Parts: sequence; C-alpha cells; structure tokens
Amino acid sequence: MDLRDHIRGIPDFPKPGILFYDISTLLRHGPAWRAAMARLAGLIGPYRPQLLAGIESRGFLVAAPLALELGLGFIMLRKPRKLPGATIGLDYALEYGSDRIEIQADAVVPGQRVVLLDDLLATGGTMAAGVKLLRQAGAVVPATAAMIELTFLGGRSRLDVPCETLLRYDE
Ligand code: PRP
Ligand code: MG
Repeated sequence: MDLRDHIRGIPDFPKPGILFYDISTLLRHGPAWRAAMARLAGLIGPYRPQLLAGIESRGFLVAAPLALELGLGFIMLRKPRKLPGATIGLDYALEYGSDRIEIQADAVVPGQRVVLLDDLLATGGTMAAGVKLLRQAGAVVPATAAMIELTFLGGRSRLDVPCETLLRYDE
C-alpha cells in the first residue's frame, strides 16, 4: 500500500502559500492507518522503548495506537494547563511567537527509555521541545518518529536524536 495515496495536500491552509499535508484521509481509512502504525512500529522497535510519548494533539493519534501495538504504556505531552497534579513545562519559540508544552512530573521513571511521536516533523521546534521536556522529566530519549517529514524545513537538524519518518515531502 502506498500511504502517500492517503495523504492529501490542501493548498493555502492555514495561510496563503502553505500546502497543508492532511492526515485525516489516512485516519479515516482503517487499513491505511493500520499499515502506517505497523510500519512505524517496525521502525521504532529497535530503539527498545519502554514507554511512548505523544505531543498534543495530533501526536496522540500516532503514539497511542503504536503503544497498544507494541504493548507499551503511553504518556502525554500536553498544551498548557491541561494536566492535573504536579507538572513540568517548557516554553519554546515558534517562527512567530511562542508555545508551551507540559508533562506530569511523575510520568517517567528516571532512566526509562521513551520514544517521542508526532504526526509531522516540520521545523522541528515542537519535537525538539518535546525531547528536552522528556529529559527534564528524567527520560532517556533514544529516538523520535513521525508519519510525515517536510524535509525542506530542515527539522531534523534541530534534533540530537534520530527521527524515523514514513513519508518525506521535499516541497
Ligand atoms: C503541528 C504538528 C506538529 C507540529 C510540527 O501541530 O501536529 O505537532 O505542528 O511543526 P514544527 O515541526 O514546525 O514544530 P499543531 O501545533 O498545529 O497542533 P495540533 O497537533 O494540535 O494540530
Ligand atoms: Mg501537533
């Protein structure tokens, strides 16, 4: 199955000039979603994760099914003020403005191997922040992974760990 057939590019979203790679069409096709998860499971298995983390919100759609597939637990990196109890947060810069993600302070047992998942690697700012936050929470992060990579934005150069991706777009 060519997963590319299940991703559509929507021009001028969310702003004029941006081509948005929409995973909705893949998610609504059961066999394509399953195939994508099986392929990602094969790519991240060798990093021997003990736990998978996903970045709100589209990262959850990847990390949670993969955790089930691999028989692992799943933890959430969330947008601000969503998680109860003690949290650790990290502010990070975007192209315009800034954002923040948070994790529960006790989400990770120190030294646990956590692979971080998102749907998309674009500029890499979100993934890099996620890796940093997981480390602050005590995790060892052997790798990251995403379904889609926009190679022309050079996101992987912002990461100091491998990023496994299924589909790469160069424009
Ligand atoms: C999108 C996407 C990634 C991130 C990639 O999330 O789901 O998380 O941007 O961009 P970057 O590599 O340039 O940081 P978004 O913030 O749009 O939110 P969502 O997942 O809640 O839709
Ligand atoms: Mg996202």
